[in-house]
Amino acid sequence: MFSEGLINSFRGLETPFYYYDMSLLDRTLGVVKDAAIEHGYHVHYAMKANCNAEILKAVKAAGLGVDAVSGNEVQLAIDSGFGPDQVVFAGVGKSDREISLALGHKIFCFNCESAQELTVINNLAKAQGTIAGVALRINPNVDPKTHKFITTGLEENKFGINPWELDEVMNTIRGSDHVRLKGLHFHIGSQVVDTSRYQLLCEKVNEIQNWFDDRDISIEFVNVGGGLGIDYNRPDVHAIPELRTYFDIFKSHLNLPSGRQLHFELGRSIVGQCGSIISRVLYTKQARKTTFAIIDAGMTELIRPALYQAYHQIDNLTGEGAEDTYDIVGPICETSDAFLRGIHMSKLERGDLVAIRSTGAYAEVMASQYNLRDKAKSYFSSNEFLRD
Ligand SMILES: Cc1ncc(COP(=O)(O)O)c(C=O)c1O
Repeated sequence: MFSEGLINSFRGLETPFYYYDMSLLDRTLGVVKDAAIEHGYHVHYAMKANCNAEILKAVKAAGLGVDAVSGNEVQLAIDSGFGPDQVVFAGVGKSDREISLALGHKIFCFNCESAQELTVINNLAKAQGTIAGVALRINPNVDPKTHKFITTGLEENKFGINPWELDEVMNTIRGSDHVRLKGLHFHIGSQVVDTSRYQLLCEKVNEIQNWFDDRDISIEFVNVGGGLGIDYNRPDVHAIPELRTYFDIFKSHLNLPSGRQLHFELGRSIVGQCGSIISRVLYTKQARKTTFAIIDAGMTELIRPALYQAYHQIDNLTGEGAEDTYDIVGPICETSDAFLRGIHMSKLERGDLVAIRSTGAYAEVMASQYNLRDKAKSYFSSNEFLRD
C-alpha cells in the first residue's frame, strides 16, 4: 500500500495526518456502480462515515446520493452539489430546525422513526406550504451479530418503528395532509460481517412488505440501509469489501414487485479501507512485559479502539531491526488511549512512522480536540506532492 517514494514524502509532513488512497476509493466505487447502480439500484452514501470534501466529490462523481443524519449534513450535501432529490435524512432525534431546513431544500425523503415524528414533520411542512416525502424506518428485530454499540435493528434499540405499531402509524399518515408515504426503511447495524444476517433481513422485509401490499398501501421503494463490514484484520487482502456478495443477497432474497425501487445506505464499506492515519513514534518506554511505543496519534484522531474495543492493523513504515513486543498507545491522558497491545514488529524508535490502517470511516468524522489538540490535516493520493 505504501511505496518507498510515498513513505519518503510522508517524512516531511507534520504528523499525525489522515491519508486517503483515492485510487482505492475509486475502485471501490466502481464495484458499487457495477454491482448496484447499473442494475437500477439507488445507493446513498452514509456521509456520517466520512464527509471530507474530496471524498464527497469522488462519491458524487460515481453517481451515488447521500444519507444524512443531521441538518448540517443535509446542508453540506447540498453545498457539495448533490441534488435535493439525492438526499435522504435519517436519525432518531431530528430537531425542528433540522427538519425545517431539509424541508426548505425539498429533499427526497425523511426516514421517520415514530408516529410523533410524523406529526412534527407534517406540522412543519404545513407551515412551509410543502409536502414531505417520508419512508417509515421499521425495526426488523434482526440481530446483526456485531458490537452492541453499533447494533441498531433489535427491539431493545432506540431506532425505528416496531411492526406492531404500524396500524397506529398508518392512521397518523392518513390524518397528515403534508406527509406523503413513499417508502420503507431498515438498518440493522454497522460492521456486519456475517452476511447471512442480510438474508434474515430480506425475510423480515418481505413479511413487512406483505403487510403494506395486503392493505393496498402504495410503496415506491424499499431502503435496506447499510452496515456491510470491512476486514480490519487484513486490509491488504480485502481492500475492497464483499460488495458484490452483499448486493447479490438482496437480488436473490428480496421479493420486490415490479416498479418498486431498491435503495441502500452504505458508509464504512465504501470508504473504510481507503484511509490510514500516519503517525510518528514520540517515545519508547520499557515496561516489565512490553515496550510502550507512544505515538503522536491518539483517541482524538481515532476513537474506535477506546469506544468499541475496535482492532486496527498498524504497519511499521520505517522501523527496522530485530522484532520486539509493543503496546502502541497514544499521547492522550487516558489509559484507554491505546491502539494495540502485545504486538510484534520490527524495532521502533523515536521518529519512526507507522500507519494505522482502515481508518477511512468513523475516524476523521469522530475526531475531537480533547486535551486541546490541533485538528489533524488530511492528504490524498491525488495530491501532486505525494506522487511517488
Ligand atoms: C440509518 C443508517 N444508515 C446507514 C448507516 C451506514 O452504516 P455503515 O457505515 O456501517 O454502512 C448507518 C450507520 O450506522 C445508519 O445509522
